Amino acid sequence: MERLQKVLAQAGVASRRKCEELILQGRVQVNGVTVRELGTKVDPGRDEIAVDGRVIRREELVYLLLYKPTGVITSLHDPQGRPVVTDLLCGVKQRVFPVGRLDYDTSGLLLLTNDGELANRVAHPSFEIDKVYRAWVKGVPSPEKLRQLAQGVLLADGLTAPGRARLLKADPLGRRALLELTIHEGRNQQVRRMCAAVGHPVESLKRIRLGFLTLDGLAPGQYRHLTPEELQRLKRELAMTSS
Ligand code: URA
Repeated sequence: MERLQKVLAQAGVASRRKCEELILQGRVQVNGVTVRELGTKVDPGRDEIAVDGRVIRREELVYLLLYKPTGVITSLHDPQGRPVVTDLLCGVKQRVFPVGRLDYDTSGLLLLTNDGELANRVAHPSFEIDKVYRAWVKGVPSPEKLRQLAQGVLLADGLTAPGRARLLKADPLGRRALLELTIHEGRNQQVRRMCAAVGHPVESLKRIRLGFLTLDGLAPGQYRHLTPEELQRLKRELAMTSS
């Protein structure tokens, strides 16, 4: 038996807090009966749970780690008919969705799941899950520019939260440099916009780490399931309780 708000959040209805509000507003039904108690326990395998009368379906939860190649859209469908990340999954029956997004031209680590609550938490900056990128940029940023990248850059949608920025390689002629950037937010095109804002536009971008998860053992286009140990550790880091 599991708490109703947790089951709703896992099904991707909304965050756990919002699901609690839905329950309190009397918009959730269990086996046809409206439930307003937050502590209510349900059996997700047997009870019929509905929001505003619409039954939610609960599939077995899956957690996939994909090495996204460039030239693939992080979406479930592309109106222009370009390849999408789920085209790379074979034999996965569940309807998984990407956690956050990588641009068409960005490669690297992408988590896919049908666990809405976990996805919300990974994307939320308050859990400070490291998102680590390697970026080749134009020119070689000065120590001052690296400090700006780490401390916060003012973008059109506000100041970025503090992270880390390291210079890994610099072209001796000063034409380009390889940076490692660690951020905790997931704004649209954030790394590209941060680098452009300090005068060093990105030439290529790859996400190499998400929390403790890396691309080790995967080639571009390949994916694997998280191990039970990895999932347990990730949930611990995201403060996801089992009740
Ligand atoms: N930041 C970007 O600019 N692009 C990505 O794909 C991911 C992070």
